Amino acid sequence: MRYIYMLLIFLVLTGCEEGSNKVQYDGGKLLKEKCALCHNLKMPPSTYEDEKAPPMMTVVFHLKDFMKITMYDEKFSKFIPFVEDYVINPSQEKSYCDKESLKTYGVMPSQKGNVSKDELKAIASYIYDFYDQQEYLKQMQKKAVFDALPKGEQLARKNGCFNCHAFEKAGAGPSFKMISKRDTKEIIDTIQNGSHGKWEGFHVMMPAFKSRLTQDDLNVLQSWIKNSSAKKQTIQPKQKPEKPWRIKNDI
Ligand code: HEC
Ligand code: HEC
Repeated sequence: MRYIYMLLIFLVLTGCEEGSNKVQYDGGKLLKEKCALCHNLKMPPSTYEDEKAPPMMTVVFHLKDFMKITMYDEKFSKFIPFVEDYVINPSQEKSYCDKESLKTYGVMPSQKGNVSKDELKAIASYIYDFYDQQEYLKQMQKKAVFDALPKGEQLARKNGCFNCHAFEKAGAGPSFKMISKRDTKEIIDTIQNGSHGKWEGFHVMMPAFKSRLTQDDLNVLQSWIKNSSAKKQTIQPKQKPEKPWRIKNDI
């Protein structure tokens, strides 16, 4: 009995010792260093020629599905142990990869010597969390919503126009509705070269977007500003009292 006690104490002590000397492994960084040579790491993956391996997102989604992982605990009981083993001792029998893909890619070459056990644990833990189906679906939904927007609004969102402009309400810059009354050429010119002091009551600089937008982009933005404001007006016919911002030139 006493021996068991001593053994326990010994284990606890060495356990603590190990804990205090523990190196912090950065799973994301290691993944790039050790696995990106073959696996595409983007979520969603970009397509590229001569794929050496399935994209990591596909691998992880696939494994979670096949292992029927439903609870977070199973990350530790199923997922991490599988990855730890597979990367060092891969084989056709163990692979969850479908036969067709296995034929095109071939079985993964063992990464023994290329990655340590602790590094692998950190990588496995990282990929489990990073390649998350829920998160992916959310991203895809966001993307679908974005893709459904008019091209002009996509450009305006990408370029941060909404940081200063809104459809109806004036913010740091005049509303698109106010701007839509401006002349086509002037709208394009302002977006290209920026502007300051033309409108009363706005103190920030409208930055120049010349270097970021093509002539096509400018035309699209211009006609979107004119049309979208008209559309908004028909949806919301109730006009708020005019704000005291006026165009200097009009006075
Ligand atoms: C030299 C290329 C190469 C490197 C480097 C590589 N892999 Fe792979 N990996 C593959 C190929 C090819 C497959 C698909 C065939 C298979 O399942 O064995 C694969 C499949 C996998 C699978 C899926 C197994 C299954 O059952 O579906 C996992 C998990 C995996 N790799 C993890 C890793 C991790 C983690 C690293 C980095 C430590 C890594 N791989 C580095 C080529 C590579
Ligand atoms: C940092 C804030 C800011 C950002 C970002 C910004 N604007 Fe402006 N914008 C302004 C301000 C302020 C004015 C009023 C300038 C003035 O008074 O001369 C303005 C004016 C304009 C005008 C008025 C044209 C005119 O000649 O009257 C247009 C068109 C315009 N912005 C379009 C855009 C577009 C398109 C984007 C994105 C590509 C954008 N803005 C991004 C602040 C901004």
